[in-house]
Amino acid sequence: LKIAILLGTRPEIIKMSPIIRYLDNLKEIKRIKKLSKMAGYDLSSDKSEDNLKNRLQTDGLNYIENLKFNNMDMEYVIIHTNQHYSQNMDKIFFDELNLPKSTYNLKIGSGRHGEQTGSMIVALEKVLVDEKPDVLFIQGDTNTVLAGAITASKMGIKIAHVEAGLRSFDRKMPEEVNRVLTDHVSDFLFAPTGIAKQNLLKEGIDENKIFVVGNTIVDATLQNLKIAKHSSKTYAQDPESKNKEDYFLLTLHRAENTDYFEKLDTIVDNIIEIANNYAKIIFPIHPRTLNKLKQFNLLPKLSNNPKIELIEPVGYLDFLLLESNAKLILTDSGGVQEEACILGVPCLTIRENTERPETVAVGSNIIVGYDYEHWINGLKGMLDYDADGKLGKDDSGCTPCSKKHWENPFGCGHSAETILEIVFSDLMDNNKIIK
Ligand code: UD1
Ligand code: UDP
Repeated sequence: LKIAILLGTRPEIIKMSPIIRYLDNLKEIKRIKKLSKMAGYDLSSDKSEDNLKNRLQTDGLNYIENLKFNNMDMEYVIIHTNQHYSQNMDKIFFDELNLPKSTYNLKIGSGRHGEQTGSMIVALEKVLVDEKPDVLFIQGDTNTVLAGAITASKMGIKIAHVEAGLRSFDRKMPEEVNRVLTDHVSDFLFAPTGIAKQNLLKEGIDENKIFVVGNTIVDATLQNLKIAKHSSKTYAQDPESKNKEDYFLLTLHRAENTDYFEKLDTIVDNIIEIANNYAKIIFPIHPRTLNKLKQFNLLPKLSNNPKIELIEPVGYLDFLLLESNAKLILTDSGGVQEEACILGVPCLTIRENTERPETVAVGSNIIVGYDYEHWINGLKGMLDYDADGKLGKDDSGCTPCSKKHWENPFGCGHSAETILEIVFSDLMDNNKIIK
């Protein structure tokens, strides 16, 4: 059985990482078994088995269940389109998440939609012709995903779409077009929630292809938060001081928010008002946004404000800490809306819609659009302010904990395991796996 994993951007690397780590663990089990057999001793008494158990435990995986597939003749390749290529949008995640180097790097980089997606299709087809995988895994809604879906569907390669069925119902978003097209040619549709499944059923997609499995972002968050607390470099060096100061975390990168002067100018003004009146804002800037702020000459407005800390995009471990220590998150990111919900941090979404309505339903997220009044109402709806506009204090007079309690709708952190078991079992039924 040959699996191909396609990825290209920051969120795909993060959300695909639990699947890659599971596959890597399976490979490791096989390697250890082979070595112990060659050495002529029983694996159960081998110390390396303990090492392996520890390694699986770190990934939150169940050792026994893992062994279910440990006799499979399985190999996998990672294909990176390099849609993201800057060190802090790409390599840092491979390093921090302990992922094997990509088998292929298509080196596509940035470009207009047609140019970027078309170049990916041409390059990916060549790799798939050589590798002949049984299944191609894609995750999310980027141009990399669309290129994977088009290429594999034309070649008769099965497509496993992780995070299927999300809909903003806004076809102006490039991601919405990518989602719809990809879902309609996929063979395994891994919907994170019942709502996502319903979206697919309403579009006439065969129910037998749809599996509600949660979102691998929960696996990634739970696996890495513990590691982050121990080993994150920048912010963990001085976590206490970050904790003492109330701050809001901001991310912004959606094309519909950054690419139009008036929209971006309004957002920038709102950010400045919030920072001046409520709390310091930490803003790791996505490269698209930095370019646009420079192009529209809006950067000085932000950089001259002492209550706004502009920083480069940070690695996943630092970002998880920044999120979990924030009083509130302002974002237009999909993954960040989910992580805020998982980490128990209130979120305001700077958009007019979301393809993650589950977060709004459980109360972790409010869609605030672009009107400053809505931002303030959202802020006050989420956090407790006193009459002076200061964050309230709890009974012991400590810095208030703004964290609210809600149920995480995205699963319990075993999505990668479930996804792979479904794919393996299906291919086993088709006698593709040598036992
Ligand atoms: C892409 C996805 C978006 C996803 C986001 C995750 C599409 C259509 N968009 O948006 O769905 O939410 O990734 O972050 O697939 N750039 C760099 N370095 C990089 C990457 C990009 O400097 O490593 C700059 C380039 O100027 C580039 C711009 O950012 O033109 C936009 O990059 P692109 O990959 O086209 O779209 P994103 O906005 O990153
Ligand atoms: N993220 C990160 N560093 C940052 C900003 C975000 O590691 O400086 C992570 C974040 O934890 C989340 C993912 O990037 O898992 C979200 O990616 P992005 O917002 O770029 O894309 P989207 O989810 O909107 O597609």
